[in-house]
Amino acid sequence: MCGIVGYVGEKEASDFLIEGLRRLEYRGYDSAGIAVYDQGKIQIEKKMGRLANLEKVLETHPLHGKIGIGHTRWATHGGPSDVNAHPHGDCHNHFVVVHNGIIENYMEIKKELLEKGHIFKSETDTEVVAHLAEELDDGDFLSTVRKVIARITGSYTLVFMDAAQPDTIICTKKDNPLIIGLGQGENFIASDIPAVISHTRRIYILNDGEMAVVRKTGVSVYDGEGLPVSKKIHEVTWSAEAAEKGGYPHFMLKEIYEQPKAVRDTVNIHIGQDSQIVFDTLNWNKSDLMGMDNILITACGTAYHAGLVAKHYIEQFARIPVEVDIASEYRYRRPLTTERTLAVVISQSGETIDTLAALKEARRLGARSIAVTNSIGSSIAREADRVIYTLAGPEIAVASTKAYTTQLVALLMLALYMGQLKGTVTNEQVQDVVKALQTLPEKIEKILENSQYIAGLADHLTKVKDVFYIGRSIDYAIAMEGALKLKEISYIHAEAYAGGELKHGTLALIVPETPVIAVATQDDVKSKMYSNIQEVRARNAEVIGIGFDDDRELEKYVTETIRIPRVSGFIAPILSVIPMQLLAYYTGVKRGNDVDKPRNLAKSVTVE
Ligand code: AGP
Repeated sequence: MCGIVGYVGEKEASDFLIEGLRRLEYRGYDSAGIAVYDQGKIQIEKKMGRLANLEKVLETHPLHGKIGIGHTRWATHGGPSDVNAHPHGDCHNHFVVVHNGIIENYMEIKKELLEKGHIFKSETDTEVVAHLAEELDDGDFLSTVRKVIARITGSYTLVFMDAAQPDTIICTKKDNPLIIGLGQGENFIASDIPAVISHTRRIYILNDGEMAVVRKTGVSVYDGEGLPVSKKIHEVTWSAEAAEKGGYPHFMLKEIYEQPKAVRDTVNIHIGQDSQIVFDTLNWNKSDLMGMDNILITACGTAYHAGLVAKHYIEQFARIPVEVDIASEYRYRRPLTTERTLAVVISQSGETIDTLAALKEARRLGARSIAVTNSIGSSIAREADRVIYTLAGPEIAVASTKAYTTQLVALLMLALYMGQLKGTVTNEQVQDVVKALQTLPEKIEKILENSQYIAGLADHLTKVKDVFYIGRSIDYAIAMEGALKLKEISYIHAEAYAGGELKHGTLALIVPETPVIAVATQDDVKSKMYSNIQEVRARNAEVIGIGFDDDRELEKYVTETIRIPRVSGFIAPILSVIPMQLLAYYTGVKRGNDVDKPRNLAKSVTVE
């Protein structure tokens, strides 16, 4: 996920470009750059790191001109660096582009262009677009862009400049956002409304396949066939602050709602031909797996909870023993890690110091390592032997939501992939899970549609002092994540217990004023779980049950039911966690807390 801006008008383009990028920095922040038509050519300045680094460069090398484009990057192809930062130009910076998304067939096009003598500077998929435009240039900017689009596959927002037409920007999109802000004698391009809202509230929202020709005098939009499209002008009514969050009151809620897309993106990159699971970055064969005695998963907080679920996945599908350890504990207990151990570290930020230290320790003891992370080029990604990226996009709220569900997806697919290689799963099992994963985004949407009901349930929690979460098997791991969410956002004491463990002490704390959240999605322990719920109800505690929509029995034992669509027990955690995220969110909001930045916490914990 990257941020894109463009400007054409009478003012200094770079002023708007920098201001717009600042408002879009939440979309990506590993590098930034701008291109401006200045002194008869398109000039580019770009810099790795936060926008401030680029601003510093521009202090000594300012770009003056009235038309330009800009980009803030969240790396996908090619790590964060000056050279991989956008904008990208062709061999002569005749065509210059910024891009958000992925060009899937860039390798094939790049090979062809290299043979024709094009010289590439970066490792990005984006650069091929600029060179392709140079190759296909027929002197007509719009027609050239159309030819480029016809050749590329993937998802993209693309914005082009052409040195031969220094009064025009052309942009188009597929599966990625793009809006055009309509001004007086000036027009603006952006990935998202916050970039333009202080200049105009009148916008066009581009549809997939449409192309906009943007000049200071006006904007013309064409469909994929090149026919003019008459666009409706949207009047933005949000405040600038609300717009940054895409209209959501908090980043946390926005990120909860981004889960269908985040899950879809993470699933899709691991599905290969014949619906087999692929992990290109691992480059393993069967003997690599046969050489592993055990797997160590280590992580912190929510990522640790994802590891607890992954233990079930890996032991079931790959039949390799898995130990899950809190990263800050692991290296202080003389662990029995050897060169026959595979260490899997999980970290959204890729910068958590405890996780990084645990990874280094496991490697020092000889383990091979994989990092599952959401941050390309992060310290953990660089330290590990192999990396699996979750495609959650930037997560801003301190409480992890979409990073967690994408971790579960990646780890489930990893477990199946290992089973595939080892021969411990059948092709049919793989296909069943793949099919279920492909329909998961719709099921998440369905849960999200029910959010007002969950908001209502949060009223039961706002005044209480303690909440218990119970579950058995995988549901216990999910209960731990639910309890953590409630603690960090609402500041209410919450504990998770394995359903069968309550009677060994904790039941003494269950009183009518202590609500219990019971997760009941695992068929093999269903009857046991119902008994545990009845133990709690017998102490007159209110129980909110989370179960499948066709489970008529659960509702007999609980006071309120949150229903999720029926899926297999392995997929269930990816769904059952969502109502718990919403419950925590609404409870925190109703208690007046700053849910995006809860007290005492930080997004990335880089201290021990
Ligand atoms: C989750 O809501 C937390 N804020 C926290 O537990 C987090 O998951 C933990 O600090 C690990 O972070 P990481 O995934 O970036 O390593």
